[in-house]
Amino acid sequence: MNDPRLHPPPIDGPADPTRRWFQHAVFYEVLLRGFYDANNDGVGDLQGLREKLDYLQWLGIDCVWLLPFYPSPQRDGGYDISDFFDVHPDYGTLADLEGLLHDAHQRGIRVVADLVMNHTSDQHPWFIESRSSRTNPKADWYVWNDDDQRWPEARVVFTDVERSNWTWDDRRQQYYWHRFYSHQPDLNYENPEVAETMVDLVRFWLNRGFDGFRLDAVPYLFQRDGTAGEHLPETHSYIRRIRKHLEAEYPGRVLLAEANGWPADVADYFGNGDECQLCFHFPLMPRLFMAVRREQRYPVTEILSQTPEIPDGCQWAIFLRNHDELTLEQVSDEDRDYLFSEYAKDPRMKRHMGIGRRLAPLLDGDRRLAELLYALVLSLPGSPVIYYGDELLMGDNMYLGDRDSVRTPMQWSPDRNGGFSKADFAQLYLPPLMDPVYGFSAVNVEAQQRNPGSFLHWLRGMLVHRRSLPMLGVGSMDVLDCPNPSILAYVRAGEVADLAISPEGRLPGTAPEPTGSPLVVPTWEAWEEGERSVVTPPAGVVAPDLVSLGRRHQTVLCVHNLSRFAQPAELALARWAGQTPVEVLGRVPFPPIGDDPYTVSLGPYGYLWFELVEQAPDPGEGAG
Ligand code: NOJ
Repeated sequence: MNDPRLHPPPIDGPADPTRRWFQHAVFYEVLLRGFYDANNDGVGDLQGLREKLDYLQWLGIDCVWLLPFYPSPQRDGGYDISDFFDVHPDYGTLADLEGLLHDAHQRGIRVVADLVMNHTSDQHPWFIESRSSRTNPKADWYVWNDDDQRWPEARVVFTDVERSNWTWDDRRQQYYWHRFYSHQPDLNYENPEVAETMVDLVRFWLNRGFDGFRLDAVPYLFQRDGTAGEHLPETHSYIRRIRKHLEAEYPGRVLLAEANGWPADVADYFGNGDECQLCFHFPLMPRLFMAVRREQRYPVTEILSQTPEIPDGCQWAIFLRNHDELTLEQVSDEDRDYLFSEYAKDPRMKRHMGIGRRLAPLLDGDRRLAELLYALVLSLPGSPVIYYGDELLMGDNMYLGDRDSVRTPMQWSPDRNGGFSKADFAQLYLPPLMDPVYGFSAVNVEAQQRNPGSFLHWLRGMLVHRRSLPMLGVGSMDVLDCPNPSILAYVRAGEVADLAISPEGRLPGTAPEPTGSPLVVPTWEAWEEGERSVVTPPAGVVAPDLVSLGRRHQTVLCVHNLSRFAQPAELALARWAGQTPVEVLGRVPFPPIGDDPYTVSLGPYGYLWFELVEQAPDPGEGAG
């Protein structure tokens, strides 16, 4: 290996570009309980997820978002925690968790943990002590009041279940504050001991090797008179405090904010690049569903126009579905009625202020529509987050309570219990789907892996294409004018740094983890100032080093037809006159762009992604 390109000066410290891995990552949300049951007790576990890492690597995801795995009475899917510093015995042990992180890192997969900072379970020893008297050492660890009239401006989140954010405690003879279920008392962040303990918690889990956190319910940490108790400056300053620890001690680890609000409020969680690196784009999600049902782009373009620029080094996290209801909190009353009437025709499908259904049934099983929505999520500005099972177009069970409707076991095969567990059916944490349309005999990983035409293979292929288009992660965004309202077209563009990682070196800036192993990147990947492109990996490459292959401009044109009928798209592309659109999936060159509007036709719910290139490639090189 005498090629000088393979021996660049080391990059480390604050300039370490690997800190921006999340701007290009595809996230995959795992419900541990429902993923794979390795010990056959009816509940998914850490060992089970460990055994399925090969599958996730094959699928091509970059980062697992692990839903709560802590000890919990499980009255809110594990978001009701009774010990922040341990693992629920149903899921395994701390050693199993460290083993999982080690194995994931060996495959180049990162893992972020759900961190529930706002509240605990009422079974948490801190709360048991706090409620025991008004003078005990933990008396002020929660938010207590003599009446239930304080902070009337604060909304109740689970309006269908809770009437107030205050609940009376007989023992202490006071009310305690909770933003969610009454069995989930809110911690009191005004108390410095609480604030400090939660910083310790962050350190504790980062020292086990996690790559960051999804910060659950983060807008509600503080309360203040005369406000709705959301997005308060005190809350932002506390997030900055946590971020400072990450920067100083754990470079490259990330914070992802779960803050459901209007784009401007949510964007505040990026701070000036000194709070969370990632925030879910909550308002975009229902508007994607609205746009395809109305067959018009404006719900999406309108929310994009209201979305502020985000600071350098940050990224949106965009998603279609997750483990909660499809929340309709951030739409007008009129739009909510419309979405309920379109997507929750049976009232049993409603959950809290949203819809408790999975992607495929929401779309009446229309694969073309699912492909279109994924094409949008994979190309709009942000990092995509896939909910487990949605890569198969799994279904839901509206007869299960609360959000269990979308939390049924992963469907691995047509075998007993869908290959999820060998426990007796009656022992399973929830029944797997067995209906003729979405049941495990019809929809499962094994069958779809064997069928190259399956949705699973389609999505996997799209992830490969997305990887070759780093500008879909970090490029600028220009929505194009088009007279046809059913067409949503945009251009993502910017400078790509073509860097690669040599087989010999190690990934710069990855000192060995305090425990566990350093992350190994098994592909030849490239980073520079947050941009990277990927070169085909030689087999078995580990412990890489950076190699500069130069820089180039990349322009990606994405065109989507939101209508169920074929549509023409006349696009104002004169700015790119002279360039040739090369279709991404087949590398087929289309006619060069001229000064007149550029016309393409799209089939029902069709989409086309093009890379615009200066020089038309030889047509023989494409698939067509
Ligand atoms: C948000 C979580 O996603 C949801 O599942 C949970 O019920 C609430 N936070 C309360 O923790």
